[in-house]
Amino acid sequence: MSWSSPGGAGHSRVDGAITAHAPAKVNVSLAVGPLRDDGFHDLQTVYLAVSLLDTVTVRRGEGLSVTVSGEGTGGPDPVPTDRRNLVWQAAELLAEHAGVAADAAIEVHKTIPAAAGLAGGSADAAATLVALDALWGTHATRGDLTGLAARLGSDVPFSLAGGVALGSGRGELLTPVLARRQWHWVLGIADGGLSTPAVYAELDRLRAAGRVPDGTTAPPSEPVLAALRSGPTPALAAALANDLQPAALSLRPSLRRALRAATGAGAAAALVSGSGPTVAALADDEDAALRLAAVLAGEGVFRTVRVVHGPVPGARLVG
Ligand code: C5P
Repeated sequence: MSWSSPGGAGHSRVDGAITAHAPAKVNVSLAVGPLRDDGFHDLQTVYLAVSLLDTVTVRRGEGLSVTVSGEGTGGPDPVPTDRRNLVWQAAELLAEHAGVAADAAIEVHKTIPAAAGLAGGSADAAATLVALDALWGTHATRGDLTGLAARLGSDVPFSLAGGVALGSGRGELLTPVLARRQWHWVLGIADGGLSTPAVYAELDRLRAAGRVPDGTTAPPSEPVLAALRSGPTPALAAALANDLQPAALSLRPSLRRALRAATGAGAAAALVSGSGPTVAALADDEDAALRLAAVLAGEGVFRTVRVVHGPVPGARLVG
């Protein structure tokens, strides 16, 4: 994966605004181990960055301010615009790291729904790190930014890196993975989110009750890595796996019907993305993805459907 220094001139627009994008992710495989003492679970996952992008624009300001527009901002559970937002925490962390004042007006425009299992908040945080590094001229190295990202959340380093990567630890330890082709997906986005901690807790509960097998942290990913390297689609379809899926289904039983609808409509395979409730349906090619999306949109199983492809790059400056 390549990385260009985010601090270059030419990214500033006339009004001094700097904009960065970051992608959503799908976990094409996710094996979850037992609960650790620190409240996290060890995991082995394969992340794929897909072409659903959030946009973060930063300008000089006094103190910090955050505004959020776009997907999911008008609902009953709006994305917070204070310190609870990972974007705010990203700004404070970078300022502290660089020894500069945390002065910035940050605008987040979302196309990635919140609490959907797509790492939308992590994408916003990663884009904020890249944009503020340029605005403040902090010239953080890639290693610095990755370290800060890992402190913000388990998925933030991957939002920064993009592409395809094997994630271990709590998801923050990344090894890039070669993928020789693009993969086409339809994302079926449900009404209402799922809380990530609640889904992990439900998995622990189901395991304690003996209703799903205990987890293992042994690398599970070889078949999925082989499929990602060279395809064909049925090989990846057969290798898709998500230990969090039974927990998401237990909390949101309607997801069963959504998964059935996706395979019934011609998906090569479908699984819950991360902690859900988004359903990621794999298609043979772009045309098949467009057809699948049209069928699923017509069935009304999802609030909305999106056709995406991946791998795509991680957080980067625009313009
Ligand atoms: O790292 P992040 O802030 O995204 O994690 C949110 C929550 O998800 C954690 O507080 C924890 O409850 C759960 N989690 C976990 N194991 C992981 C990642 C997340 O239990 N590997």
